[in-house]
Amino acid sequence: MAKRLVVIAPCLAMAAVFRAVNAEVPVIFIFGDSTADVGTNNFLPGCKARIDFPFNGIDFPNGKATGSASAVKRRSFRGLNFASGGSGLLDITGQTMQKNVVPLGEQIHQFHIVHGNLMDTMGPSGTENVLSKPLFFISTANNDIFGYYHSGSTIPKEESLPIFLTYCVVIIQTLLNLGARKFGIISVPPIGCCPSQRIYNATGGCLEELDEHARAFHATMGVLMEKLSCEYSDMKYSLGNTYEMTINVVENPALFNFKEVASACCGSEKLNAESFCEPKANLCSKRSEYLFWYLFHPTQTASKLAALTLYSGEQRFVSPINFAQLAAAAAA
Ligand SMILES: *[C@@H]1O[C@H](CO)[C@@H](O)[C@H](O)[C@H]1NC(C)=O
Repeated sequence: MAKRLVVIAPCLAMAAVFRAVNAEVPVIFIFGDSTADVGTNNFLPGCKARIDFPFNGIDFPNGKATGSASAVKRRSFRGLNFASGGSGLLDITGQTMQKNVVPLGEQIHQFHIVHGNLMDTMGPSGTENVLSKPLFFISTANNDIFGYYHSGSTIPKEESLPIFLTYCVVIIQTLLNLGARKFGIISVPPIGCCPSQRIYNATGGCLEELDEHARAFHATMGVLMEKLSCEYSDMKYSLGNTYEMTINVVENPALFNFKEVASACCGSEKLNAESFCEPKANLCSKRSEYLFWYLFHPTQTASKLAALTLYSGEQRFVSPINFAQLAAAAAA
């Protein structure tokens, strides 16, 4: 049986989005969890939230596992990725099972150091000019919700979600105060539909309560972002509705050429969700027909679909503007 408290990561890897958007803008800063981690955790002592082993990476150009959803080598400076798999908004998220992941607050602190370096080399107006143009992507809260749900916390859920949302707004405000102006926020997908969670439902269906959290997170985040953009009139943002995007695929797999949206392609036993994708795991024959690569994360095909939808999708999936419009919007 899978470890009851595994809270590595959410359903939708967004790394491909960042690649898609990258062509249009000079610099991108990325914060969050495993949906955006490109290998940070491989360098953290004692960290267990790593996937830098086969069969992960099987479809990368040289088939090598790099540690997460994407690995892109760049010649020039195109930004920084601070994301750490297993992390969340709360400092304690991911510290029990995975150990030593980098919480969002710490990621922001690291960015603060970068900001300090920019101030030293370019001065205040140079820094302001440089930081108002890049895109700031944040993909988080998934592990906070997993952690809350599986810990059997006595805090009612009406109270837990506002705590996560408050932290999220504080993080965005901190970035705004450091000069950031363009934000791409990826909200929480239907994490109850991950194979890792479906195995706790006797019918193999999604865990409804987790999906309710995801819907509520998105709805409230929409209100909060709108408020923030009134306070900071030169701020621009896109809020990706990964709940709507993913549930649409789960409910209409054939429309998107998927055949299997419940089991993982790589893993073992029930729904292929009782182990990680390890060298001994079962590997499905047609990866592109699966929504999930392993118990927590989507396949490359699903990630690409999500990326394209965030980049050029309609308002139902990304609002008030999509990532392409965000990238094109005139810098403040
Ligand atoms: C389990 O899945 C079914 C659908 O197959 C759903 O109706 C039910 O609410 C789910 N149970 C839980 C505990 O989420």
